[in-house]
Amino acid sequence: MTELNPSLEDKNIMVTGGAGFIGSYLVDRLVGEKLRNIVVLDNMVLGKMSNLSSAIKRFPKMKVYKKDALSYNTVKSILKKEDIEVVFNLAVLPLKVSLIKPKWTFTHNVDITVNLCELLRLGHYKTLIHCSSSEAYGTSEYAPMDENHPLNPTTPYAASKAACDNLIYSYYRTFGIDMSILRPFNNYGPRQNEGTYAGVVPITIKRILSGKPPVIHGDGLQTRDFTYVTDTADAMIKIYNSIKTRGRILNIGSGVETSIKDLITLIAEKMCWRGKILHQKERPGDVRRHISNCFLIRDLFGFYPKVGLNQGLENTIKYYKNNSLSK
Ligand SMILES: NC(=O)c1ccc[n+]([C@@H]2O[C@H](COP(=O)([O-])OP(=O)(O)OC[C@H]3O[C@@H](n4cnc5c(N)ncnc54)[C@H](O)[C@@H]3O)[C@@H](O)[C@H]2O)c1
Repeated sequence: MTELNPSLEDKNIMVTGGAGFIGSYLVDRLVGEKLRNIVVLDNMVLGKMSNLSSAIKRFPKMKVYKKDALSYNTVKSILKKEDIEVVFNLAVLPLKVSLIKPKWTFTHNVDITVNLCELLRLGHYKTLIHCSSSEAYGTSEYAPMDENHPLNPTTPYAASKAACDNLIYSYYRTFGIDMSILRPFNNYGPRQNEGTYAGVVPITIKRILSGKPPVIHGDGLQTRDFTYVTDTADAMIKIYNSIKTRGRILNIGSGVETSIKDLITLIAEKMCWRGKILHQKERPGDVRRHISNCFLIRDLFGFYPKVGLNQGLENTIKYYKNNSLSK
């Protein structure tokens, strides 16, 4: 039976993709709850054990399974062995992979989700909190974008995110599974993947740190709603704790629209970059405008992001500076 006031207290929680960027912050945040245990399932394709080191220090009994969330039987046996009640699903192949391997990215992201839906339907755990993405909306048809905005995904990654949301909703409508979906806008912060599939913030910081000029793709007037990663992690816990979020999709964003040009200029200023900024051709599938309407999470449980862009960028620059110095 669904609890009136869900609480993580004394529960075993699984985080798929928990060694990744947002997942590891969620794990950090979960450590502060009075839960029984945290189980991370991550195949480490992009996740890193180092992302979990502070959480493991604070919560040594946490378990990390370096296994593939694509395998139905693997997930089923971990759910059983660890007596999991709640799954936060963040395992994903990112947008940039979908530009090179579109079919693989689409089926990968959808298959993980359909397995979790099926395992929930069959009673192997109780609640799914699924991480969607604002990319599912495509470019803004009106601004700010609320949860009723049409889904017009541009990339195969975005299509996989939209498909997962529809899939989970279909299980909710047909089988009454206990679920909430959060739809974060662009996240940034320390630990964001800085390698081949990196996002604009770590790419820009890393380029400046290595003496290379930052790059703007297209005219730079494309906009995003940047949300600091700890705010998203906080929101995920609040979403679990609020029964009013069940059966709903909820935007997580700052409600502030920033152009890529302004973002890159701000990072360059903060890093005292005196050189030029390069312009390169537009990236395929790049959405033109993104800004969230976050009234729903405000109305449901009074959620406001705590970290603004200035503070968030300073934390992030400091992290990558320290990280590259220590290498
Ligand atoms: N980063 C953003 O700006 C952003 C914005 C909106 C939504 N999201 C969503 O947030 C979630 C987390 O994204 P992120 O930015 O932290 O990405 P990330 O790449 O840092 O983390 C994803 C993790 O999933 C793991 N993974 C991938 N395939 C797996 C598999 N088959 N089995 C087990 N683990 C697997 C990876 O190793 C990685 O650790 C995703 O659902 C993403 O769509 C991210």
